[in-house]
Amino acid sequence: VTFSPFAIGKLKIASPLVLAPIADFTHAAFRELVAEIGGCGLFYTEMLNSRMVAGQSLDNDPYIAIGEKAAPVIAQLIGNDPDKMAESARKLVDHGFHGIDINCGCSRHRIRRFGWGVTLMEDHEQLARVVSAVRRVTPLPLLAKLRSGMQHDTEKLLRCGKLLEDLGVDAICLHPRSSADGFKRPSRWEEIAGLVEHVSIPVIGNGDVFDGSDCRRMLQLTGCAAVMIGRGALVRPWMFHEIIDDTRWSGDPLAVIRRYVALLQHYVPQELVRKRFVQFCNWFSRNWPFHRQLCAVISKQKEIPVMLDVLRDYLERPDCVMVDRPFLGRL
Ligand SMILES: Cc1cc2nc3c(=O)[nH]c(=O)nc-3n(C[C@H](O)[C@H](O)[C@H](O)COP(=O)(O)O)c2cc1C
Repeated sequence: VTFSPFAIGKLKIASPLVLAPIADFTHAAFRELVAEIGGCGLFYTEMLNSRMVAGQSLDNDPYIAIGEKAAPVIAQLIGNDPDKMAESARKLVDHGFHGIDINCGCSRHRIRRFGWGVTLMEDHEQLARVVSAVRRVTPLPLLAKLRSGMQHDTEKLLRCGKLLEDLGVDAICLHPRSSADGFKRPSRWEEIAGLVEHVSIPVIGNGDVFDGSDCRRMLQLTGCAAVMIGRGALVRPWMFHEIIDDTRWSGDPLAVIRRYVALLQHYVPQELVRKRFVQFCNWFSRNWPFHRQLCAVISKQKEIPVMLDVLRDYLERPDCVMVDRPFLGRL
């Protein structure tokens, strides 16, 4: 398997590795961290609420910060009101994002309640209205991120994929789990292969890629154009670099943590820095056998410098050896 460049519409992307949209995590600070380490070709924002984006000024809004090194960046929108989605998309591309993604996969209760996220996969008429409205406002890449659906229903999934292609979507990303699956069952990569066969636009495969061998297997088994990585990148922001270079990353995790704090302080509202850092530690600490203990200690601290000292003391312990495969546990 080779890691070939790919294209979404007119956008050429050098590396077929994509950072997934992850609420509370893939803000500009984290994207910059990943970009500095290298290997990632395309970045996603966290999901952005179309009601809010449509109704506010984007200047100086930290949630909408684009960053400098992480590019291209796709802004992901969530919502189901065609006018608000279109207005938000127009504002986001005017602001400088390189494309728009429509979230058709989120299955959290508070999202589904509004008819957003995966609910759009159930209502193809509404999906068509939303996609057409957004398509009209920008020639830049338009993507849709799907999951399998509320249930696994291959025929319905393929119909949805074809509809998106016919509506002018430039690429589809698929996380092949149903809402009922949650993260409890492995993702069904055969559904990615099925979608690749069924549509002629690029498909970005997603789900359970935690290292280079997973990534190569996904490309090989499914024929997808690119691979999107979510949780794996939270644990190992250097994973993209490792996959592309086919080497083990030999950097200093403490330096990554310190750099991340600096980026948080630059990009995230001050009142959120501590919270975002604790959330990050919850994932990042899974690189070590004693992550639960480490997280418990970190989350009790109020001040970032103290947290950094605690982390340093742990990571400098002689028994602190990075695990080969991070423990993801129950989510
Ligand atoms: C904490 C968390 C937040 C997420 N937030 C989003 C989101 O905002 N938008 C979205 O489309 N998917 C979201 N996802 C799903 C991921 O983008 C991805 O599809 C999923 O984690 C599977 O990929 P992975 O196995 O590489 O983690 C989220 C997942 C997690 C674990």
